[in-house]
Amino acid sequence: MKIGVVGLGAMGSGIAQLAIEAGFETIGREIELARAEAARDRIAHFLTRKVEKGTLEADARDAAVARLALTDDLADLGACDVVIEAAFEDLAVKHELFRALEAVVRADAILATNTSALSVTEIASVLERPERVVGMHFFNPAPLMPLVEIVRAERTAEAVWDAAFELGAKLGKTPIRCSDTPGFVVNRVLIPLLNDCVRVLDEAGVTPEALDDGMTKGAGWPMGPCTLLDLVGADVHVHASEALYEKLREPRMAPPPRLVRMLQAGKLGRKTGEGFYTY
Ligand code: 3HC
Repeated sequence: MKIGVVGLGAMGSGIAQLAIEAGFETIGREIELARAEAARDRIAHFLTRKVEKGTLEADARDAAVARLALTDDLADLGACDVVIEAAFEDLAVKHELFRALEAVVRADAILATNTSALSVTEIASVLERPERVVGMHFFNPAPLMPLVEIVRAERTAEAVWDAAFELGAKLGKTPIRCSDTPGFVVNRVLIPLLNDCVRVLDEAGVTPEALDDGMTKGAGWPMGPCTLLDLVGADVHVHASEALYEKLREPRMAPPPRLVRMLQAGKLGRKTGEGFYTY
């Protein structure tokens, strides 16, 4: 099976890493080749750390990296059996990409989207064969988080939903089936929870460090909410919050003003070197 990944940012490169580690020939597409090469370097770095820690053989790392081809041309994804899209979270961008993908892939190819807050049904709506579209929603960091949500849109074919579920398992994940509702399963719960965490900073007058201690040591979270938001990125989180608020109209879904101010100031978290913490 040949897998295509569109967009090699944090999520796409993590998904490409999973695919090559699982033994699939994979082709990653970025708008500029230099960005694709930077993603391959990041993947090679993480695999090398595994070799250093003795959980991966050097030969296996080299073979995995060799399974990853790069391109800046969507037409090169024509031979893929499954394409997983992890591009910018904007409906118009996804529509353009999916239309272009449908024009080059085989009639039986599956087109999956890693969208976290858009409707898979709406993404698929512009295609001639919307039944081939399914959601495969991974979690950040994709190589480490064991879950993938397998989202059935209104017109997803049962066989496509099943195939995506099987692929999720072959990528080493625990797949769960769900419907195409706003936030699917995890983000429907996690986004308002993280928003509450940011609101409590000001309400209770606690520092990000104290809140992170509170949730890791008092609630058993693996990572505190401020550390997690810095990992996810204020841009990604605010965007997802707004998308869910628009659909559900629940006040807790709306992004907290403090996070919006951070976004406006370019304090996005790890990726810009400053968020709740400095890096
Ligand atoms: N990609 C690949 N490998 C990575 C990586 C990445 N992004 N980040 C780290 N690694 C590798 C590193 O090599 C690291 O080892 P090293 O530090 O020795 O080099 C190795 O993984 C293990 O890392 P850690 O020892 O730091 O692993 P931990 O045991 O501390 O666990 C964690 C890390 C799994 C991230 C854990 O802290 C956790 O579960 N955090 C919660 C994350 C979470 O909730 N994510 C969901 C976000 S919401 C979301 O994604 C939805 C979306 O729609 C926005």
